[in-house]
Amino acid sequence: MSKFIIEGQKPLVGEIPVYGAKNAAIKMIAASVLVSGVTILDNVPDILDIQKIIAILEKMGAKFQRSSHHLEIDTRALKASNPDPTLVAAIRASIVLVGPLLARFGTVSIPHPGGCTIGSRPIDLHIKAFRDLGVEVTEGKNIYTFRATHQAPGPVVFSNISVTATENILLFASAQEEKITIKNAAIEPEVLDLIVFLSQAGAKIAVQDRTIKIEGTKNLKAVKHRVIPDRIEAGTFAILAAATKNDLKITQMNPKQLTALLEKFSQMGIAFKQGEDFLEIKSSEHFSSINISTAEYPGFPTDLQSPMGLLLSQAQGQSRIKENLFEHRLGYLKELQKMGGNVRFLNPQEAEISGPTPLYGARLESLDLRAGATLLIAGLIAQGRTEIKHAENIDRGYEKIEERLRAVGARIKRVS
Ligand code: EPU
Repeated sequence: MSKFIIEGQKPLVGEIPVYGAKNAAIKMIAASVLVSGVTILDNVPDILDIQKIIAILEKMGAKFQRSSHHLEIDTRALKASNPDPTLVAAIRASIVLVGPLLARFGTVSIPHPGGCTIGSRPIDLHIKAFRDLGVEVTEGKNIYTFRATHQAPGPVVFSNISVTATENILLFASAQEEKITIKNAAIEPEVLDLIVFLSQAGAKIAVQDRTIKIEGTKNLKAVKHRVIPDRIEAGTFAILAAATKNDLKITQMNPKQLTALLEKFSQMGIAFKQGEDFLEIKSSEHFSSINISTAEYPGFPTDLQSPMGLLLSQAQGQSRIKENLFEHRLGYLKELQKMGGNVRFLNPQEAEISGPTPLYGARLESLDLRAGATLLIAGLIAQGRTEIKHAENIDRGYEKIEERLRAVGARIKRVS
């Protein structure tokens, strides 16, 4: 267990590169189970969540070769066994192994997948969708068994939009000969990147609004694919620049995937310049309050709600935040209060934040991945020394964040 120590209020200048999208790369690693041959992925971030999904498949017989952000995956010797329950329980995204393992071996058992503590995170939408396709799902004592006994035509109609449930069905359907339709699907950029991967592998997939039509094949071939940049990492760094009032250039990213955030920046009076693959934030001494309500893509992303809440503590006036996707994603605001943040909770998913307030260094807990990154930015704004426990929560999604921040002038170190 390590922690970050930050000395705040140092001027930051230069460029911060964005690495590949965690929530796209994980699903492509899962997709490698479906293809014959060696899958080659570029722009794969070296983060804990990726290491965990690799560990699950390695234990089942898959071979991985990594050099920097290049990853080669050979699943030809994969054994028809179940993923290690302890490893599955350590990472929420392991749920997306169900579709590929079911398609390949006809059956798979997993416990309830783990992950961060941002909400109850049920898997009922996954279960119902597989049942719609004829998969038999039985629930034992904290273990779900999926059996592809016969095929039903669907369609899969989601009552709520779910990223991983959409991806699970996409993965499964891409390896079925029958046509399968998903309605009310998630269309996050990471889902669309997975569709590009599966299409290159040989599945015919058409997306219109929130309807996805898949014509799969049993002969998916291995492909080489470059993972899209991580829009949440890019957004986190853009907010970091605005909140610390520094000119910073965020590179190797796609501003078009951050439209919801950039619209808010414009309304707040935060100046920026965007190019094809970069975003330059111009330091603004004053910017105004705003209301945020999270939603599925293309709405305001829940994964940027916590850094945005911190930014609002530096805005002029009163802002309101509403988290609509997860029940426990405002915990970071309690940590912010310890630093001097002016926060009033309206209910567990809604809060008012008044600003601008000076922040002071404190000893903090990184409650989950995004909350951890948020407190790290708070430490950069704060006067004095901030200590953030459980650096591993941040390592789940941001590769060597302290090195990238030191390169632009931040005083941050990791201690064990
Ligand atoms: N939901 C259900 N039943 C289900 C599945 C989801 O009720 O069976 C609900 C959830 O409780 C939530 C809503 O549907 O209220 C949306 O959840 P979703 O399933 O879309 O989330 P997820 O697929 O588990 C992915 C990302 C999250 C990101 C969300 C929303 C991965 C591995 N994770 O989670 O990323 O917040 O979509 O965009 O792709 C993160 O990176 O920090 C992170 C938490």
